[in-house]
Amino acid sequence: MTDEAIKARIETGRQFMARWSQPGDETFESDQQKKLPQPPLVKAPMRETSIELPKNFEDLKLNNDILSVINNRKSSRVYTQEQMSLLELSYLLWTTQGVKDIRGRSYATIRTVPCGGARHEFECYMLIQNVEGLEDGSYHYLPMEHKIEMLNTKAELETTHGMTFRDLISATLNGQIWGAKGNIVFYYSMVAYRAEWRYGIRAHRTALIDAGHVTENLYIACSSANIGTCAIGAVNSALCDQIFELDGVEEFAFYAATCGMISEANAQAEKDFYAFVKRDNL
Ligand SMILES: Cc1cc2nc3c(=O)[nH]c(=O)nc-3n(C[C@H](O)[C@H](O)[C@H](O)COP(=O)(O)O)c2cc1C
Repeated sequence: MTDEAIKARIETGRQFMARWSQPGDETFESDQQKKLPQPPLVKAPMRETSIELPKNFEDLKLNNDILSVINNRKSSRVYTQEQMSLLELSYLLWTTQGVKDIRGRSYATIRTVPCGGARHEFECYMLIQNVEGLEDGSYHYLPMEHKIEMLNTKAELETTHGMTFRDLISATLNGQIWGAKGNIVFYYSMVAYRAEWRYGIRAHRTALIDAGHVTENLYIACSSANIGTCAIGAVNSALCDQIFELDGVEEFAFYAATCGMISEANAQAEKDFYAFVKRDNL
């Protein structure tokens, strides 16, 4: 890439990040302002059957001391490969995308995370292995019912993509192989028009801010439940779109987070991830 091309891309990125409003935007009218119909609040189920999730969160052993939960929040990349309970998975979905209420008749969902204009423009997909009562494979969260639906089994995914399930998980994370040893990778997609209907030209900047709230809640929930997680920006979006049957235009995957069981015994292996800091005297 030429220096000029790099400079131009950086300039575009800075402009995108810095400006809510640009000169000339004054005449912009959103589809909401034009009184065009609002798109659905959530994606319709993709399969005919779904799986109930338990909500007896009082049975989880949670650290309820908020300051210690926040102080202990960290990224974990070494997982024990023990089984995760369905209740733990349910807790992570609830705390990151759970629907608590509906604003108006069907104007917006009110969730456990904040979101610009309450558009909640994300869908959550998962690659799951070794979670109690679930067959390994790909899943989609149904936030209105707090259920999940299985999209494809591990065997189907392995046949379609011509690689092992773990290699497939690793490929979605651009080769971050450690992510394939967890129990779940959450993948977040953007359903673009859900946000664009209200924010139009400003929707995308807001959505990226919104995505940070989702994974921060995941970090906090994981910290409270002694589960490991790591946000992943380096996502192979095109592969994720294929796996989760997204068209890559109206809906595209753009962010992920790994999750797995952790143990104190792995503290050193965890530190080894950043051993280069010491080695290179950084
Ligand atoms: C938006 C975002 C993207 C990230 N992407 C990756 C990633 O692709 N791979 C990775 O190993 N860590 C990733 N991380 C984790 C950061 O490296 C981590 O938060 C940082 O090193 C600070 O460590 P801590 O979370 O333990 O405080 C990401 C974190 C965020 C918030």
